[in-house]
This record gives sequence, structure tokens and C-alpha cells, in this order.
Amino acid sequence: MSFADMDVDTIWMDGEFVDWEDAQIHVLTHGLHYGTGVFEGIRCYDTERGPAVFRFDEHLERLYQSAKPYDLDIGYSLEELKEATLELIRRQDMESCYIRPISFFGYDSLGVSPKDCPTRTAIACWPWGTYLGEDALEEGVEVMVSSWRKHASSQIPTNAKATGPYVNSLLAGEEARSNGYVEAIVLNKEGNVAEGPGENIFLVDDGEIYTPGLAQSILDGITRKTAITLAEELGYTVHDEAVISRSQLYTADELFFTGTAAEVTPIKGVDDNEIGAGTRGPVTEEIQQVFFDLVERRTDDHEEWFTYVNEQ
Ligand SMILES: Cc1ncc(COP(=O)(O)O)c(C=O)c1O
Repeated sequence: MSFADMDVDTIWMDGEFVDWEDAQIHVLTHGLHYGTGVFEGIRCYDTERGPAVFRFDEHLERLYQSAKPYDLDIGYSLEELKEATLELIRRQDMESCYIRPISFFGYDSLGVSPKDCPTRTAIACWPWGTYLGEDALEEGVEVMVSSWRKHASSQIPTNAKATGPYVNSLLAGEEARSNGYVEAIVLNKEGNVAEGPGENIFLVDDGEIYTPGLAQSILDGITRKTAITLAEELGYTVHDEAVISRSQLYTADELFFTGTAAEVTPIKGVDDNEIGAGTRGPVTEEIQQVFFDLVERRTDDHEEWFTYVNEQ
């Protein structure tokens, strides 16, 4: 859905709430030319106690971690960003939304070194439904293994959520979509499974669960960590440092993606190979069920992961 069709009117930018149309930057902004920014994607869910932000601190902590290798000083404390976000949600009266904090090198000069470029920091939020299509959560998605490899962490910090590296995600995702698939799976430099363009990946085999570890050039996904915890609480053995080959994908009993946008999305086919019975598998369904019960607060479990917007 286009922003033009959304009921949104305010953005927090550099310490102030501004009208949506006024959240502008100069065309010679450093971050625009060189992808020198860091960002987050966070979901706020509609619950009986009003909007609740999921794992807010962890997402903001990751924002500061992402900024580290780029020596980008965000300029605001975690508490300040948190308060600004909560107020932004309240001002726009949102029941649920996706939250996008971003911090980038601004306008001063255009050498690759950002030395005198000031940091610009903004937060926006908007309504965002299912990421991979209406039926994706129930039916699962068809994916292809991309011909593009994920960059190695010797080339770029892969556990930092920086803006520039997302051109890799764009290439992989668009390649998949232009070939008729919903999403891509990206292999790492060694040819093992890394993740999706905006998702981590899980494999179920013989009742046990496997997901690539951080050394496989993945983003340290917060939904990944959540799924690992929930699966272990359900009694599953989770191998969270797994090395998964391309061919293991084809013979898996089940596969699913996790991510803030994608939530828990089953994968029903890879490169036209049916996964399991070609529908959402039982383990995936169980984890999905527990995940949505959790984030929509139909349970009291893991209260520590929620920030209730109207109770702060
Ligand atoms: C490349 C990549 N991997 C994994 C994820 C999933 O991370 P999270 O669950 O923290 O949203 C994302 C989304 O942020 C991503 O962009």
C-alpha cells in the first residue's frame, strides 16, 4: 500500500515532530549517495491493553550496534528514541503499526568519508499488514534460491542493519519476483543457506529444528531469537548454529521464514520442489500459533517483551 493511501501525518525528525510532508532531506545527503545509514523495523501490535511494541529495547539496542562499525553517532539516547516513538504512535492514534527508526549521515560534503556530515535521525510509523501476501501465513510461499550471494562479514558487517547492504536484498528479491516467486533464499559466500532478503530461515527435519548461525552471514534477527525461544518452550530441539546446504532445503520436512515484517511465514516450495506436503507443516503451524498468541497478547507469557504504548 502506498503512503499516499495511508492515514499518517507525523514524523519525528531530529528531535521534533514534523508534518509528514515536511520530513525532507537535501539531495546531496551522504546517506543517499553511499547508503551510510542504519535502521530498524519494529512492530507494534493491537492488543486488549492497546498498542504494544514488540521487543522494543532489543530493536533499539540493535540500532546502536549497527551504528558502531560505521562510527555513526545516533545523537539520541535509547530512552529518547523510545519516548519519541511512543508519542508518535499516540499522536497518530495507531492501534497497530510498523515502526521505522533511521539514522544516517546528512548533508555537508560528498567525499566517501562522512567526516563533517551531521547525523540525521528520524522515526516514522505506518500501518503494515502481511508482508509476503494475504494468504502467505496460511498457505505458505514459493521461493527460489537466488543467483546473488549474500556478502560475507569479511566484506561488510552482516549483523549490522545498515541501509547500503540492502541492495543485495533488492537484487535477490526482485530476481525471485521476476521469475514468478514470492521471495528469495540467499546463499552465503560458501554456498550454504544464509537467509531471505529480509527474513531468517528455519528448517524442520525429523522433528528437530535447524537455523543458520550468526557465522553464516545472517542478520541476528529478533524474530529468529523469538522463534528459537518459543520452539524450545514447546519442547523442540533447536540447532541454532546450523550449517544448511542448498540440497537440504529440497528434502526438508518444513521450512519457514521469520522476520519483523514476515512474522512466521511457511515456505511451501523452493525452486519448484514441493516442501513436505506442499502446504504449511505442523511444526510451523504450532510455532505460528504460539507466536501470534504471544504478540497479540492472548497469553501472559513473556510480558517483558512488550511495551504498552498507553501505559508508559
Ligand atoms: C536481511 C534480514 N534478515 C533477517 C531479518 C529478520 O530480522 P528481525 O526478525 O529482527 O526483523 C531481517 C529483517 O529485519 C532482514 O532484513
